[in-house]
Amino acid sequence: MLPGALLAQGMATGTVSRVAHPATIAGAPPADAPYRDATLPIEARVDDLMARLTDEEKARLRHASGGMSSGLIPRIGLPEIRTLDGPNGPRTEPARPVTYFPTAIAYAATWDEALVEAVGRALGRETRGAYAVADVPARMLLGPGANLARSPLGARNFEYFGEDPVLTGKMAAAICRGLQSVKVSPCMKHWVLNDQEWARTILDVDCPERALRELYARPFEIAAKEAGVWAVMGGYNAVRGHWCSHSAEINDLLRSFGFDGAIYSDWGGWRDTVKALNGGATLESGTAGPDPARDRREAEQVRAGLIDPERAHDATRRNLRNLFRMGAFDLATEADKAEQAACERSLRSPEHRALARRVARESAVLLKNDGAFLPRAEKDVRKVALIGPNADQYHSMIDGSPLERRGASGAIHTDREVTPLAAFVERLGRDRVLFAPGFRFENEGRKDAISVPGMPAMDPVEAARQADLVIFCGGLDHSLDREVQGWGLVLPADRPSLALKGPQAELIRRVAAANPNVVVALTTGAPVSVEEWIDAIPALLVTWYPGGEGGLALADLVFGDASPSGRLPYTWGRRLEDWPCHSMGESLAWPGLLTDAKGERLPKPFQARQYYHDGIWVGYRGFDRYGRQPRWPFGFGLSYTTFAIAPAHADPDALRYAVKVRNTGARPGRQVVQCYVSKPESEGQEMPAKELAAFKSVTLAPGEERLVTFDLRPNDFRYWSEAAGAWRIPQAPCAVLIGDSAANLPVRHEARPHK
Ligand code: BGC
Repeated sequence: MLPGALLAQGMATGTVSRVAHPATIAGAPPADAPYRDATLPIEARVDDLMARLTDEEKARLRHASGGMSSGLIPRIGLPEIRTLDGPNGPRTEPARPVTYFPTAIAYAATWDEALVEAVGRALGRETRGAYAVADVPARMLLGPGANLARSPLGARNFEYFGEDPVLTGKMAAAICRGLQSVKVSPCMKHWVLNDQEWARTILDVDCPERALRELYARPFEIAAKEAGVWAVMGGYNAVRGHWCSHSAEINDLLRSFGFDGAIYSDWGGWRDTVKALNGGATLESGTAGPDPARDRREAEQVRAGLIDPERAHDATRRNLRNLFRMGAFDLATEADKAEQAACERSLRSPEHRALARRVARESAVLLKNDGAFLPRAEKDVRKVALIGPNADQYHSMIDGSPLERRGASGAIHTDREVTPLAAFVERLGRDRVLFAPGFRFENEGRKDAISVPGMPAMDPVEAARQADLVIFCGGLDHSLDREVQGWGLVLPADRPSLALKGPQAELIRRVAAANPNVVVALTTGAPVSVEEWIDAIPALLVTWYPGGEGGLALADLVFGDASPSGRLPYTWGRRLEDWPCHSMGESLAWPGLLTDAKGERLPKPFQARQYYHDGIWVGYRGFDRYGRQPRWPFGFGLSYTTFAIAPAHADPDALRYAVKVRNTGARPGRQVVQCYVSKPESEGQEMPAKELAAFKSVTLAPGEERLVTFDLRPNDFRYWSEAAGAWRIPQAPCAVLIGDSAANLPVRHEARPHK
């Protein structure tokens, strides 16, 4: 079947299949067969079952059993197992409401691994809880997404964790640990160099080896090593002339991290079974259902050696291992039933709502707060004007919008999304709230609010005049922050520029001229331009896509129930050209070209090509190298309190460094202590001025001081040697820099990782 058709079938309808696979061996294995024994180690169970399978069944296990499912071999007691999109929570198909958590970029902005692991566990519980075992049980979630924000324009940046490989890897590992703790398999994606939407299904990407190793592959390496991630999804794109799912170079790189899990294709990304299996992929995603003729043909191809038998065998083993890890053979055990019942109880539970609200609060980044403008005392505020297109805009599918309009893979069906307008009305009462969208992203011309029916829409300048506090809710929506649907060159793809959507810059200026007490709250997946209006307002909060409790969290922050404690997972540049991939002077660097060096259109299958000329100079690494002053640095975020970071002790040989962190203000708050390494030029290779190696989050009462210790390893200092084609540790002393953003690192120590 054509990839496009497969895509439509899997992605758009999310079908499962109920067609049973005809048994090829009469009779089921005995009830006491070791693989059925949930108390045995998984490897023993895999060994036992492998020995009982026919070649056709082994082939069968290398393909999905439906658009969004796997498993389904009744003879061996393997039920069909449902797969759900995506990184922001289970996208149920057919629609069932789940808790709408903030999107992944917000998790990154918390810089809090424990909190993000709790989110992963909650996402896993919601995944399982949405479908009873008697239905088709759900045990796989298609996330986390771990591509890097090489450019702020990448349309799926909201599904990822920002620009830095260590932050991304740690966050992805935390999500994986959380999901896996409730036997839901992650499918970490998209492996690899799938960092944009433009031409993603026809694009051949290349980059310097050093950038691949140090940046783009690193999150997957971290998740493999720190979370033992169970499954990874190959990208749609090609790398160096081979589709990701067909590329032995790419798939074996993943295996070299000690990864023992399944390698799924993206939906339709498995273009050719022989090439995919020989290339090391293990499972074709999104099929029309069981296909005995295909299984017979494939078994024959393995016997004939057309498909490497070792690769085929390994693929089946890995897929089985994943099914055992998910508990697919243990659904009838009492332990699994109890776990399932707990998951069903936790679906949309008050605990999950509270967690979503906490994440929204702790991910919001306060970028500007002149004269401690925030927080405002609620009792002193007579009237608040909620102005701007995001005051009353849904970002989930709660209003019946199709997934294409709500981010696609990252879209969510929910029954609760509290907009900022609804939250302020709930908190203050209707009489103290004025509403003025100015213009709308959708529903242009509507005269009242959607989330608070009957609430009249005013003129924004008039609303600003009548209020003593203005909350301007702006930014973007999922018409720009979204997965691009379809095959080939689909336009528009990534965001066209850093601009806010619609005439917001002018609207903010007009509103601020009428009333200077303006807080701008931005909903966005990545940096946007603030240059035209930032000087006109006293306070700016970036809330990302804050989920179903986002409006309430915003009110919590504005009125000081909580202090914002998010930190930027991006460097926030001033102009697009600040990002190296946008100033390389050639479009081959971004987004790529449809033509060859002679200007001729590229033939199929790789009809677009791209080279990452920016190499390792991505994010703050690039801003540092080219001396570009960002508006706000990576890792930055203000608080309602203040903190001091001072050296405590350092052991340069043991690579152990401690700092004292003190809350020097009058309110409780959370500080994110960041530890960067700086390496000397080695083997003639230039090194970044600094690179994030570790971070820790501490919550402190006013006046409280805590010791924060970082235990680094020599590998935190390694670099990819271009000459040796291997990792190396610098032979000269390095430096360790500790502080609270990439631009504020007051503690500096020596490090001797080579000793
Ligand atoms: C996306 C994946 C997604 C899959 C299944 C693809 O188009 O790239 O991220 O998980 O569809 O819906």
